[in-house]
Amino acid sequence: MTQTEGRTAPAVHVQVHSTGGALGAEVHGLDLRSIDDRGFETVRSLLLDHLVLFFPGQDLTPDEHVAFATRFGEAEIHPFIPKLDDDHPEIVVLRADDGYVADVWHTDVTFDASPPLCSVLQAHTMPRSGGDTMWSNQYLAYERLAEPMRAMLDGLTAIHSAANYGHPERQAEHPVVRRHPETGRPCLFVNRQFTRRIPQLGRDESEALLAFLFDWSSQPHFTCRYSWAPGTIGLWDNRCTQHLAVNDFEEPRMISRVTILGDVPEAAFGAPRWEPHQPRRTSAAASGLDRA
Ligand code: SIN
Repeated sequence: MTQTEGRTAPAVHVQVHSTGGALGAEVHGLDLRSIDDRGFETVRSLLLDHLVLFFPGQDLTPDEHVAFATRFGEAEIHPFIPKLDDDHPEIVVLRADDGYVADVWHTDVTFDASPPLCSVLQAHTMPRSGGDTMWSNQYLAYERLAEPMRAMLDGLTAIHSAANYGHPERQAEHPVVRRHPETGRPCLFVNRQFTRRIPQLGRDESEALLAFLFDWSSQPHFTCRYSWAPGTIGLWDNRCTQHLAVNDFEEPRMISRVTILGDVPEAAFGAPRWEPHQPRRTSAAASGLDRA
């Protein structure tokens, strides 16, 4: 995966150090405040190669944070997480003291019809130990499945919902395997936090398959783990990764994040191959005990 490891990146000279065999790289030699078009193209290209990038020592102001992030596109205004202030509705603030620790594997905002392209996080307050973040490579998670399993998943969709934010009615349906719009590579696109069910399967089948996929897609050999210092910027591709904050700390932890709108996920291998499953009517169903 780390195609730029050990050499300079294509457009400008930067130092790139891999953070793991599966994904991730720390990038030195760029000031994100004053990045020009060539520098930005370098970042885009590194992101496609490494999926998550870290830029230590940036210390961006809120305006600089928004300015860098929106080079990738339009910022999302998150429907549920608290914002920095009225002047920066694009910046969400996750304070552990307020209960905001994203400690379940997820891809950001997949309950929306056009889930995010990328997220740009700045670390502010970090515990003296713990509070790392982990990411998982969803290209690898797909590629390492056995061929019959891949063949089955290719025709399925999944319903994602914001039930964890108290809004189960906010839902979107996405392919279980999506094609990355820039690299063209297929990747798994389900996550424990927001994915609720696979409508082409019966309830028990859907629960069993999703439980397997949640465990499968976050195995250690698909992941990297990063220890933050205040002022570090983290940038990840939401189309082909999942992440979680490791909730192993007692001291204050605070990060801010700008998330950039993405496109409607496309199925990697064409339209769903099956209609939504209709449970067969049973005597339990007839007596009002139907599980549907
Ligand atoms: C997030 O899920 O966007 C935040 C991750 C973190 O707090 O490390």
